[in-house]
Amino acid sequence: MRTHTCGELTEKEVDKEITLCGWLHSRRDHGGVIFIDLRDRYGLTQIVFDPVQSKEAHKAAEHWGREFVLRVTGKVRARPKGMENKEITTGQVEVLITKAEVLAESITPKIDIDDRTVASEELRLKYRYLDLRRPTMLRNMQIRHASSQAVREYLCQHNFMEIETPFFVKHTPGGARVFKVASRANPGKFFALPESPQMYKQLLMVAGMDRYFQIVKCFRDEDLRQDRQPEFTQIDIEMSFTNQDNLLELIEGMVAHVFKQVKKINIKTPFKRMTWKEALDQYGSDKPDTRFEMKLQNVSDVVKNSDFSIFKTALEKNGVVYAINVKDGAKMSRKQIDKLTEVAKQSGLPGLGWLKLGKEFEGVIAKYMDGHVQEDLKKATDCHEGDLLLFSAGDFELATTALGDVRLATAKILDLIPKDKYNFLWVVDFPAFEHSEEEQGWAARHHIFTRPTDDTVDMCEKDPTQVLSYAHDLVLNGVEIAGGSIRIHERELQARVLKVIGLTMEQAEKRFDFLLEAFRYGSPPHGGIAFGYDRMIALLCGENDIREVITFPRTKAMENPLDGSPQDWEEKWLKEVHLKLR
Ligand code: AMO
Repeated sequence: MRTHTCGELTEKEVDKEITLCGWLHSRRDHGGVIFIDLRDRYGLTQIVFDPVQSKEAHKAAEHWGREFVLRVTGKVRARPKGMENKEITTGQVEVLITKAEVLAESITPKIDIDDRTVASEELRLKYRYLDLRRPTMLRNMQIRHASSQAVREYLCQHNFMEIETPFFVKHTPGGARVFKVASRANPGKFFALPESPQMYKQLLMVAGMDRYFQIVKCFRDEDLRQDRQPEFTQIDIEMSFTNQDNLLELIEGMVAHVFKQVKKINIKTPFKRMTWKEALDQYGSDKPDTRFEMKLQNVSDVVKNSDFSIFKTALEKNGVVYAINVKDGAKMSRKQIDKLTEVAKQSGLPGLGWLKLGKEFEGVIAKYMDGHVQEDLKKATDCHEGDLLLFSAGDFELATTALGDVRLATAKILDLIPKDKYNFLWVVDFPAFEHSEEEQGWAARHHIFTRPTDDTVDMCEKDPTQVLSYAHDLVLNGVEIAGGSIRIHERELQARVLKVIGLTMEQAEKRFDFLLEAFRYGSPPHGGIAFGYDRMIALLCGENDIREVITFPRTKAMENPLDGSPQDWEEKWLKEVHLKLR
């Protein structure tokens, strides 16, 4: 149907007769001559309808509207001097049309196919096929495609096999809430949609596949945020006969390869590593944004001699007091500080303590600190005139993470985050266990197959808080883009970990029967990781919201305005799967 695409013609094709197909992007009438920008995936070409050349074509062109689909034939000519467009590949030429046909008409598009005027979210999602015509969305899809090509290329070079796993699976407790699918063939029984292929990729290691990967959909019925969708994509990876160092090195290579192929950027490896404890202690986050400083300071020792009751109570309960120094922050307005206080409250603090340093400290807390404490505080936080100190108090995890949230919010308000950096960071040495209100005891922080580190495993029986695990998260610019671990593959170690969380092997076998059964048949040491692929692509595209890189995403209410799902259930469907709606 066409000899060229709309992104192809240059001076080389001048005088050639060519045929193009595409959408009518825009039109201008200039003294009887009509200029149209014809658009397809590859670009824009200026086509010209001159009545002197073809009366018929010109007459037809007068009636066409935006987004009509056209097929045009004509001769390529150089644009007149001064009329070239250096911004586009085809900017040196135009096509004088002799023959044109309309392949499809379009009613007036509900949103503009233009990056300058972006429609409301509702409209963009309802008319997503129009939204996807916009240059930015097309570019995002191209980056997504190029990235998956690069991922496959790298992993195949390193002997990984792309293997699929099932979507109708057994639900194993723990982790995210899953979607359930009623079985028509088995009245009263359900499948779960996998929150990830975790168990299956481990089975593939038992099966001797050695190195597995899959770019795969995962399903989680959780509340949505900017970086969460109910169905999202992972690059899921698992390998045998490896340790954490080997695995992380290999993954760094993959990330560097993708950035090189897609962005033409050389990423420096190895990436920095930080323990979970350091990450909380310094940045107040298990996914620190290291593009800016404003690090947290543990000031417990300094303020232990103050009379401020909130600090005192926290310290008496074995808690901590942390501070950040916002350089030049004393100029922040009351309103801005109120906003930060709101953030602190949402993160679980009763409020946000602050001190501004003018000639002296100002702020409610100041009067509870004598001269010595104030001087020590200045030294500990490197606080000078014009600075603002923000405080949090409570148990270690709460106090640090809440102040970490405040740190991020402050940086956003003061515009301190550089946009052009890619800061990669591994967070390792996560605690293996955490207190679980629900279980009234210990729960595995990741999943029960996560391997405790060799040097802390003996604390399982003595003090589970001290047990660390070979878990690893990859953080890019403060976003957790991947997570995984080295697994437990031996039954004895598995039994020890299960005991901590109050399960016997028999109880665990009921829940995780098929995997634990498989481990009896010679399970190789193995480990893996999964990338939040949408998050990674969003960062590659410079987008904040993963929906910008997903073709047909959902709103925060989990609806899709395009197809109107979820929809009302029809009586006959309920019958089919033996269900009654209450
Ligand atoms: P995890 O649960 O950490 O690990 O998930 C891996 C990565 O997936 C991304 N992610 C999401 N992205 C978009 N929407 C969501 N709702 C969503 N939830 C998670 C995050 C996260 O880092 N099976 C393990 C991996 C392993 O141990 O190998 C797993 O799924 O970027």
